[in-house]
Amino acid sequence: MNKRILVTGRLPEQIMTNLSENYQAEMNLDDRPYERERLLEGIKDKEGFISMITDRVDDEFLDRADHLKIIAHLGVGYNNIDVKAATNRGILVSNTPGVLTDATAELAFALILATARKLVELDRITREGRFQYWAPMLFLGTEVTGKTLGIIGMGKIGKAVAERARGFKMRILYHNRNRIAVSEEKDLMAEHVDMETLLSQSDFISLHVPLTEETRHLIGREELSLMKPTAYLINTSRGPVVDEQALLVSLRNGQIGGAGLDVYEHEPALTPGLVELDNVILLPHVGSGTLETRIRMANMAVANLDAGLSGKVPPNLVNPEVLPIRRL
Ligand code: DGY
Repeated sequence: MNKRILVTGRLPEQIMTNLSENYQAEMNLDDRPYERERLLEGIKDKEGFISMITDRVDDEFLDRADHLKIIAHLGVGYNNIDVKAATNRGILVSNTPGVLTDATAELAFALILATARKLVELDRITREGRFQYWAPMLFLGTEVTGKTLGIIGMGKIGKAVAERARGFKMRILYHNRNRIAVSEEKDLMAEHVDMETLLSQSDFISLHVPLTEETRHLIGREELSLMKPTAYLINTSRGPVVDEQALLVSLRNGQIGGAGLDVYEHEPALTPGLVELDNVILLPHVGSGTLETRIRMANMAVANLDAGLSGKVPPNLVNPEVLPIRRL
């Protein structure tokens, strides 16, 4: 008898077909996340779970998941999963690192360029028929080439953003819990600085930290007040890393130049007032949103699931401490 699994997000067709051939699979065929009740009901008899960032995996959920052996999360960030609680119950947890690095770095860079040159606002102006003549001082943006980029969080994605910034001859500052190897700093032409230096000297600040208790509201009123009045804040990491209310105030008062956001503190809700502002670009959490990347993420999640359900160690296990007590 095939093992029972739950997949709460619609995945690329071929991958869904393979899953249904190999497992007794309950799969979400819509692009709308599972409601809480359906999720709690759905997990009851399942041994494997391909989870989405919209699924809250907490004690309430895990208490229903008596047969669950692996949570193969689709995503690199897994702050929606209480990993400690899963570990205590002997459940493996895996994620999908690496395969979404380029897509996310591309989006961060797209936001750097788009905020600098006001692409969204100018598109709207043009569509509304407000481009009626050319004049040298109209519709001006700011140049990216040669400016200073501050990267907070120099993991895989932060480094990929730095690589792209080199092409724009940017000065690259970074802040990270641990300094990266000096040889890597040289390759990336990136300089490790403290937060205050990064905040006060950068023209663009791009966030690439995971969401943890230490990084929640890493950027708040005080940090925003250190930024240049012309600087832009780019967030493709997790919404709660930024105090969105404080950001709203500084955008509204022109304390910073603008922001490019892909993620939100209370996702998918936006802080009231944000949509009225022209100096912010708002995207619907699409950092890893390319078809190529989503195929790679789904294949990786399936490989982790397969390994976990056949007694092997999933290649992208995030809680190796579970191994001695894993459910078999
Ligand atoms: C990730 O992988 O963390 C992306 O934000 C999508 O969940």
